[in-house]
Amino acid sequence: MDIVTKRPRGTEDKLPKEIYKWHTLEKVARDTAEAYGCKEIRTPTFEHTELFQRGVGGTTDVVQKEMYTFEDKKGRSITLKPEGTAGAVRAAIENGLFNDALPLKTYYFTRCFRYETPQSGRLREFNQFGIEVFGAASPSSDVEVIALANDVITRLGVKNISLEINSIGCPACRAEYHKALKAYYEQYKDKLCDTCLERLDRNPMRLLDCKSEICSGFKDNAPLILDYLCDDCKDHFDGVKKRLDALEIKYTVNPLIVRGLDYYTNTVFEFISNEIGSQGAVCAGGRYNGLVEEIGGSLQPGLGFAMGLERMIMVMDNQQLEYEPEKKCDLYIASFDEETNIYAMTLANRLRAEGFWAEFDTAGRSFKAQMKYANKINAAYCMVIGSDELAAKSAKLKRMSDGEEIAVKLDDSFAQKLNTLIMDISL
Ligand code: HAM
Repeated sequence: MDIVTKRPRGTEDKLPKEIYKWHTLEKVARDTAEAYGCKEIRTPTFEHTELFQRGVGGTTDVVQKEMYTFEDKKGRSITLKPEGTAGAVRAAIENGLFNDALPLKTYYFTRCFRYETPQSGRLREFNQFGIEVFGAASPSSDVEVIALANDVITRLGVKNISLEINSIGCPACRAEYHKALKAYYEQYKDKLCDTCLERLDRNPMRLLDCKSEICSGFKDNAPLILDYLCDDCKDHFDGVKKRLDALEIKYTVNPLIVRGLDYYTNTVFEFISNEIGSQGAVCAGGRYNGLVEEIGGSLQPGLGFAMGLERMIMVMDNQQLEYEPEKKCDLYIASFDEETNIYAMTLANRLRAEGFWAEFDTAGRSFKAQMKYANKINAAYCMVIGSDELAAKSAKLKRMSDGEEIAVKLDDSFAQKLNTLIMDISL
């Protein structure tokens, strides 16, 4: 096939016939975020590469292997954002948002770009709905963020999603854990894959996430971070669990969740579906108390999550959930010649201004073809405007579901009448 008519591997077209699913998901996510006091933030699609190197972390797969990086015409290194957190933090620092009321609660919808091997639920361009909250260090904030994600899932009617949580501690207790982990993996040094070998020194926790058959076999007996938490981190994690219990949000503690991005501290979590194959994480996030400072701001606690929208839609489709009903065309106005077509156009325009979905012929079609089109687009009513109707200033509205005809006056009362008839149909 000609490359021009083929989309790049790992990308998707969201087509008009299925876009209502996206609208439902986006509306529920937005309404929920706003009920929690979050305000939307929109950041650029591309950033300086250094932001992600520093923010996401040099030892992560995302930075080492998956970024879409290029030089712009002035030789600057630019990267399409692989995730939303680093950009939100950068924007908050650059625009002085930490000087406003804290906690600062934000949400976003963003496209992300990662050069991964495409498979079901894993794309090179995908969409995230995300939350980032700054300036709140208490476990209540962790649970508010988790509850928000849980609420989006519940409001959508999605079932069978499990929540797994863990704490990966602060830099102090993690240093002790790293030592133990390194010592443990040293004994398998000659069997580890090249990536794990390379990460053993710099970021041994990443070894727990290795998908290679041999390396993943070693994690069963590896030391667990929860045994290394300092008192403060342990208290924080206990506080999170206590509050999740109070909200009756079910979870399991999975000490092997380490997350694929470097910025996390303390609480990390994943919402997982087992209905969509191996890429089951539909939403993931955690706390990142050092990130704002790392990127160049003040010391500011932060936390958040991102929900993979393509994966959520896969789960929703799989569970055959009800979406908000698609909008229907209210009225198709058929015409015969230039005069009646111009009348149909002005009437459609008036109706559109009043909030109706009205259509008329813009393709120069025959009367028969217009009626066929009205049927195809599933119009609720159809009206024929010929010279007789124009002269009499009255016409007949045909209800397409049963062919019933209703006489109407083409005067100021028309929109009101149409509205009543549409309401009758939807009852
Ligand atoms: P992440 O775990 O890399 O975290 O991605 C979050 C979610 O995005 C995943 O759980 C998944 O649903 C979706 N996702 C990730 N990669 C792909 C892909 N290649 N194709 C389709 N969907 C994908 C983050 O991005 C963090 N920024 C989340 C966060 C926000 N943590 C704190 N605040």
